[in-house]
Amino acid sequence: MLTPELIDRAVEILRQGGVIALPTETVYGLAANAEDELAVRRIFAIKGRPATHPLIVHLPDAEALPQWASEVPDSALRLAAAFWPGPLTLVLRRTSRATDAVTGGQDTVALRVPHHPVALAVLRALGGGLAAPSANRFGRVSPTTAEHVRQDLGDEVDLLLDGGPCTVGVESTIVDLSSGEPALLRPGGLPTEELERVLGRPVPVRTASTVRVSGSLPSHYAPRVGVVLVEPAEAVARAESLRLQGLVVGVLGPQSLSLPRDLRRFDIPEDPAGAARLLYLRLREADMAGLDMLVACLPPAQGLGLAVRDRLARAAAPRPSDS
Ligand code: TXA
Ligand code: MG
Repeated sequence: MLTPELIDRAVEILRQGGVIALPTETVYGLAANAEDELAVRRIFAIKGRPATHPLIVHLPDAEALPQWASEVPDSALRLAAAFWPGPLTLVLRRTSRATDAVTGGQDTVALRVPHHPVALAVLRALGGGLAAPSANRFGRVSPTTAEHVRQDLGDEVDLLLDGGPCTVGVESTIVDLSSGEPALLRPGGLPTEELERVLGRPVPVRTASTVRVSGSLPSHYAPRVGVVLVEPAEAVARAESLRLQGLVVGVLGPQSLSLPRDLRRFDIPEDPAGAARLLYLRLREADMAGLDMLVACLPPAQGLGLAVRDRLARAAAPRPSDS
């Protein structure tokens, strides 16, 4: 298990410019000291991610906000008070502490306080910010267990802290508060309804953006297996027609959906929070099962269902290699 000695070792590695993998409540992160530009560049190299795509800086608490954000609007303070630590990332205008290496040269920075005892212990002991994207190779499914990180990144990280399976299972919700009107850049682990309740106003989705948000690329979070999206009632008919074409097919759907005995189910809870928690694990299992096609049932578009639908839509989008 995780001992204080292991936390100390993690901090020592980070102070020396190392890169570690660590658990958060959403997904595992690939972390480096946000103020160490060389270490941050190593994150991009390990992930194979374009260096212009900005990273989230993780903070030990909301009190650290003014060190990283030059303007902290009242809306940011209210959201931080309501949801931090938690699966919410705020995009704000940056201070010089947020370097070009982290922000991709933009004048804003993405900030969040993660809700995981291991991440918080490391952040508090480090006393600074941790730049951390999800600990997967660029474009692939995010890891929700330490074993997933091991499978993806092997020994390219200097230390892997195992904090058990992630409880939320999809990445944080990202809200841009840098320009007056709040905008949703990525649905995620905090339901949009909750944000809107605290802000007392709707938070529109911003799709067209000059900001480079890799999670907003059409094909992202993609497993190797092909994915088709269906409403639950259509799942069996769709799976059968794909099987008639000679494909090996599985269904991502809840237990309540009855399937022919010879059609493999990748079981996903009916409630959106449960679906979010297991989504990436099931996509990985579908990959390992050697399917040609996964027929994925869409959850209702509310609460965490919005984030699950978003990730499934990106998993189902045409891949660059398809064209
Ligand atoms: O739950 C999470 O957010 C996880 C855990 C590890 O904290 N992290 C994560 O990081 O999902 P990553 O790098 O995979 O996704 C971060 C997203 C990217 O889509 C990035 O483009 C966006 O945040 N982002 C970062 N800085 C930004 C900025 N200044 N403006 C707009 N988007 C930004
Ligand atoms: Mg990611």
